[in-house]
Amino acid sequence: MRRSLTLLLAAALLCPGAQPVRSRKAMVVSREANATDAGVAILQAGGNAIDAAVAVGFALAVTHPSAGNIGGGGFMLIRFKDGRTTFIDFRERAPLAATRDMYLDKDGNPTQDSVRGWRAPGVPGTASGLEYAHRKYGKAKWADAVAPSVRLAREGFTISYGLAQGLKGSKAMAQFDESKRIFQNNGRFFEPGDKLVQPELARVLDRIQKVGAKDFYEGETAKLFAKQMAANGGLITLDDLKAYQPAERTPLQSKFRDKYTIITAPPPSSGGIGILQMLSVLEKTGYEKNGAGSAQAIHFTAEAMRRFYADRAEHLGDPDFWPVPVSKLLSVNYLNKLRASIDPDKATNSDAIKAGDIATMESAETTHYSIVDSEGNAVAVTYTLNGGYGSGVTVPGLGFLLNNEMDDFSVKPGHPNMFGALGGEANAIVPKKRPLSSMSPTIVLKDGKPFLVVGTPGGTRILTSVMQVIQNVLDFDMNIQDAVNFPRFHHQWRPDKLYLEPQISPDTRRLLEQKGHAVEIARSICEMASIQFEDNGWLAGAADPRVEGKAAGY
Ligand code: GLY
Repeated sequence: MRRSLTLLLAAALLCPGAQPVRSRKAMVVSREANATDAGVAILQAGGNAIDAAVAVGFALAVTHPSAGNIGGGGFMLIRFKDGRTTFIDFRERAPLAATRDMYLDKDGNPTQDSVRGWRAPGVPGTASGLEYAHRKYGKAKWADAVAPSVRLAREGFTISYGLAQGLKGSKAMAQFDESKRIFQNNGRFFEPGDKLVQPELARVLDRIQKVGAKDFYEGETAKLFAKQMAANGGLITLDDLKAYQPAERTPLQSKFRDKYTIITAPPPSSGGIGILQMLSVLEKTGYEKNGAGSAQAIHFTAEAMRRFYADRAEHLGDPDFWPVPVSKLLSVNYLNKLRASIDPDKATNSDAIKAGDIATMESAETTHYSIVDSEGNAVAVTYTLNGGYGSGVTVPGLGFLLNNEMDDFSVKPGHPNMFGALGGEANAIVPKKRPLSSMSPTIVLKDGKPFLVVGTPGGTRILTSVMQVIQNVLDFDMNIQDAVNFPRFHHQWRPDKLYLEPQISPDTRRLLEQKGHAVEIARSICEMASIQFEDNGWLAGAADPRVEGKAAGY
């Protein structure tokens, strides 16, 4: 007995799993190295996690142009050192001139206008949201938080292998001269090791640094933006920009297995409700006893996913415009009913699932970053242009790409959007309304203390991936790096398919098919940026090896 315990301990020491980056006081994990470094620098200079979130957000707008942005929007979840929490919603809003059927042709069929070009963007929220967060909760000077982005745009930065591939591969940008000029070197393309210098964007960021977000919404940038919109058939006007306001909301919060508290995104994100509903359904199934990655654990989890996405399509939208039935979707009776409807041996046909009585494959091109400071504040930010490089449009003279977030509305209720998403009346287009999102920045507490900060891009796959990382740590006892690295899967009700990363074994695939799942291989599902507070007091930062992220701290 003693001998086998010794052997076990020795094995654990020899095979400690994938190792996260560890630091004592503070940690930043983002999708791009320069942006992570900008966050760490401001923390070391005495800024807090909110200042770092501003610095990383603006830096990514320069160095990760497919998703980092000032032409898009997003969500910031904060848990302060004293236990308070808040959620800043700087999601884009539909322009004042938007109409419910604006993306339908004369026969009532959806056009491509919600996806590409000047009519696709919602009114951007990023500059306003970051400024709001900083003004209310930051500590450093605004100019210091914006400074790294100005420098990176003005002096340029080295293009990585992944960025070179991404810029070259964007068909969206190839259609618009200004995007093609700036990001694709006029069709000659950049090579890894080249420098990307963005003087127009540097001037915009410089004005934001000096004047504040006011420049973006009312000043020189706003006027030029509105002029270009009008000249190119876009809808966003100066009045739209002036009217933009972020919203501060109360995060959703729920217990999991007694000792954990999940704090997550409220509507207009669908993510928080989804994560809480799916975890609560799974909690009493005993699914975890089958082991991580087992066909049975995947089956139960996929069945919980399938059920939530039916609710998502029917009930979820911007809470300022639609009464989202949050408490009903998370009520004990309803969760019991959902749980009871899962057959342990057989996949349920999605045709047999309707939303409760009381889907989607959006683009992977969103981005997430997680930050913890030395005081114990934790921040999780997910923001986006929606599709990779958004609408493909760069505003001439301003150097920033515009989102195509209008496609996150159900452009025709009941009709799948560009990534197969279904939506209903709850998510129909209305002026000033925010489209439904899947972005799910999430913080987990253990015994009331911060434990995990997690999030990812990936459209509708966001919430299922965030949930899997949480399951991997809480239910399968993995460290955060193993939890992030572990192969993922996804189900979203419609289409009735179970997507598996290729690393899930052929044997497991076969077992899932035998249960009736329509399995499809997905090359890569999401890119997490996560932090764990380890029991020994260290912070563990885990970038996702699927992409070129960076975790760093001190
Ligand atoms: N555009 C991606 C999302 O908000 O879910």
